[in-house]
Amino acid sequence: MSESPNSFEMRGIVKRFPGVFANDHVDFSCKVGEVHALLGENGAGKSTLMNVLAGLYRPEAGELVIGGKQVTLHSPQDAIANGVGMIHQHFMLVPSHSVAENMVLGLNKPRFFLNLSQVEEQVAALAKQYDLNVNPRAKIWELSVGEQQRVEVLKMLFRGAKILIMDEPTAVLTPQEVEALFRTLREMTSQGHSIVFISHKLDEVVAIADRVTVLRKGKITASGVSAKGSTKAQLARLMVGREILFQIEKKKMEPGKIILETKNLQADNDRALPALRGVSMQLRAGEILGVAGVAGNGQRELAEVLTGLRNSTGGEMIFDQVALGPHTNWREIGQRLAHIPEDRSAVGSVPGLSVAENSILKCFNLTPIAKGWSIDAAAMQKKAVKLVDEYQIATASIQTPVRMLSGGNLQKLILAREISGGPSLMIAVHPTRGLDVGATEAVHKLLIKQRESGAAIMLISEDLDELLSLSDRLAVMYEGKIVGEMPAEGADIQRIGLMMAGTKVEA
Ligand SMILES: Nc1ncnc2c1ncn2[C@@H]1O[C@H](COP(=O)(O)OP(=O)(O)OP(=O)(O)O)[C@@H](O)[C@H]1O
Ligand SMILES: [Mg+2]
Repeated sequence: MSESPNSFEMRGIVKRFPGVFANDHVDFSCKVGEVHALLGENGAGKSTLMNVLAGLYRPEAGELVIGGKQVTLHSPQDAIANGVGMIHQHFMLVPSHSVAENMVLGLNKPRFFLNLSQVEEQVAALAKQYDLNVNPRAKIWELSVGEQQRVEVLKMLFRGAKILIMDEPTAVLTPQEVEALFRTLREMTSQGHSIVFISHKLDEVVAIADRVTVLRKGKITASGVSAKGSTKAQLARLMVGREILFQIEKKKMEPGKIILETKNLQADNDRALPALRGVSMQLRAGEILGVAGVAGNGQRELAEVLTGLRNSTGGEMIFDQVALGPHTNWREIGQRLAHIPEDRSAVGSVPGLSVAENSILKCFNLTPIAKGWSIDAAAMQKKAVKLVDEYQIATASIQTPVRMLSGGNLQKLILAREISGGPSLMIAVHPTRGLDVGATEAVHKLLIKQRESGAAIMLISEDLDELLSLSDRLAVMYEGKIVGEMPAEGADIQRIGLMMAGTKVEA
């Protein structure tokens, strides 16, 4: 291994959590200037391994060699001092501070000497060099998810990272943002940076990675395989040990009665600006309506208004012939309305509560779970065990707090809970974001099954392949309106892309 600070080698890394062998004697290394993809199913131990490299976890055994030097990392600051920076699955920026302030927060530089305009200048220069377009003065909360990620990358570059770990960086990006990110990554590798790239999107792995390493249940199953010339199907097989159907089988169905209708629906976003500017749509039983659009065009607000998390400012929404509005008893409606929210850890679950407690969030006040003023613990456990079993949720136990579940398993738990109520309407927002190929396949099958049992499903996604393969009809959202609708079968991707970008397209 070279002496360059831009390479590293992990040898025999062992990391356990109560009941799980997250990393079982793992060897993993990265050469100068390469993009090394780390693949594996949800819960395989990818984030854990990279948290060790980033100084967040101390391994129980194993060695860490960075730039030819054996090191022991005690903190992320230690890691960054050794040139290792990590961008996490969940961003770690301070929302109320500006981009430039976030660069220096937590640094051990005396505040007295801190010259913010100088920081802003440096940030702007880095942004220019690496094609990372953000305003250094903007507050984090004002930024889109894609912009926030650029800030995370900038922060690591600003702090001198030579080795950049990106944990599912594209899960939240639009296709255009992914392209921009890849340009940045290529610029970085050409400057000699090394990149560890974790992703479940195998097309992207084939596109950006030089080599691939696969983890399975904490162990390496493929090490440093060349990514050039490998196919998505091959990578999937390495990860899950079986064939994955990338194509969904779905029955032909006659849509039933109208379950959901909106007329000229309007709402504001968090910045009190109009986000929905008159959405009119219908959704029938046994139908999947795919909503396509670039993030920030009102999809999130639409889902929130329809599920009672945000007030509308005008128009109508009718659910099963009942008008919804400020006087709606959402708790009652909630039994028939399933919501798979965009943010699984903040909206979809309570991270500190157990798997069992999270499994009853929607029915704790109903029999058989409710028992007078309290909760029937035995009934709760029974339900949780059943869901964990039926949906194959990997968790140490039903008492485990859900913050310890892997992303995919948390999503399966939320789906299990929402579906178990037997909903007639389902609002699913990016339901497979961050899920491994196997879990994605499982979620797709669950959605198709719901459709076949007669539920009306609104599927909001940025993944056009997913939308095209699952939906019966597609609606394209742009600037708070539905700008086009078409049957999904035979839909023209180019045309949808143009509509998503706001170009007027002839019918
Ligand atoms: N802080 C923690 N405490 C307890 N268990 C944990 C903790 N972090 C991870 N685990 C467990 O360790 C295993 C590996 O988790 P890890 O997050 O590394 O998986 P991953 O490969 O990153 O999965 P995903 O693709 O879903 O992000 C899982 O079984 C997970 O539940
Ligand atoms: Mg992870």
